[in-house]
Amino acid sequence: MKMQGESIISGITPSAHISRAWGLIPVFVAAIYPLFLQGFHSVISTRKDEISFTTTAIILLGAAFIVPILGLIFAMKGPDFANIRRLAYMVVTTPALYTLLGTLQGMTRSPIPEDLVWYVLWFSFGILTILSTKETKDKPSNPEFTVYWKVIHGLSATLVSIFIVFHITNHFFSLKGADTYNAVMKLGEKVYRNPFVEPILIIFFFFQILTGIQLMWRWSTRSVPFYQSFQVASGIYLAVFLLSHLNAVLIYARIYLNIPSDFAFGSAAPAGIIQDPWNIRLFPYYTLGVFFALCHLMTGIRTVALVKYKSHRTTISRIWVAMILVSGIASGIIIAGMSGVRI
Ligand code: HEM
Repeated sequence: MKMQGESIISGITPSAHISRAWGLIPVFVAAIYPLFLQGFHSVISTRKDEISFTTTAIILLGAAFIVPILGLIFAMKGPDFANIRRLAYMVVTTPALYTLLGTLQGMTRSPIPEDLVWYVLWFSFGILTILSTKETKDKPSNPEFTVYWKVIHGLSATLVSIFIVFHITNHFFSLKGADTYNAVMKLGEKVYRNPFVEPILIIFFFFQILTGIQLMWRWSTRSVPFYQSFQVASGIYLAVFLLSHLNAVLIYARIYLNIPSDFAFGSAAPAGIIQDPWNIRLFPYYTLGVFFALCHLMTGIRTVALVKYKSHRTTISRIWVAMILVSGIASGIIIAGMSGVRI
């Protein structure tokens, strides 16, 4: 019931604003994300040569991974408004967004402290979302339109997947050291850095990003079941990850710094990923980049498999769970290799 004297801003009563304000909890957690990484680094950097993972260090690094998970939970269970749900999906991208911001700050030699920009960014996202959230629910997206984009997105994904599978396999060789990693990369570069292939590959990746954002926008108008939410969340993470990663590789390394985009660049040598207060952001960023890339593919394959083999739903879902576990193990092995573990 509306209280007497209650003012209405953009069609929403102040009490309605408050009732959905809890949807901003993940935004607050995303805003303090840098503190988890800084806290982790201050705990481990006490011993220079030998990294000691204390319980506090593990909890702080774990907290950095909780942020995107919280975003996913709120996207599924938070207040049922499209804008608030989109903001929750944005929270999923936190590790990628923070890396993108850090690189851009460095490239522009910004005099404004990075963390200040970060706080202002999330504060603005939160305020704008609350003020622009409409009382009326958005119409569900036109299913035919969504299917059309889904098919196009899926078809171009099959092409970029060939590169992704090679690229991810390449990262396993980090466990053998820089020389082996670079030798494998050189083999692949003969194909993907060919002057005819590379522009097409990059265009396809941008096409994936744009069609993915389009799909995410439509799917986020309503609450969707877990698998779709997970597909949207992993996809939107990849969109921001790729913007950050392509900027880092193609512009920052190759043009701005004019250095080879090889193992040394990828593993942030000589300082390393774990040992440096700036580079530590690459740990959740890369881990989730590999994890979500594999999960996104697997979840897409699950959807296609269900259309073809409807009666095998349980088996397909079991295989999906197994594949998600494998993706987790793969990303764990890769980040270990990129962080200096050798076999
Ligand atoms: C541990 C995680 C990752 C690391 C350390 C990493 C590192 C690198 C490096 C060093 C390059 C330059 C390759 C070269 O010069 O030949 C590169 C390029 C690239 N990466 Fe990654 N990458 C990671 C994950 C991913 C993922 C998950 C994707 C896709 C979803 C991806 C997409 C790309 C693309 C599109 C390029 C540009 C290829 C080119 O034209 O040269 N990367 N990455």
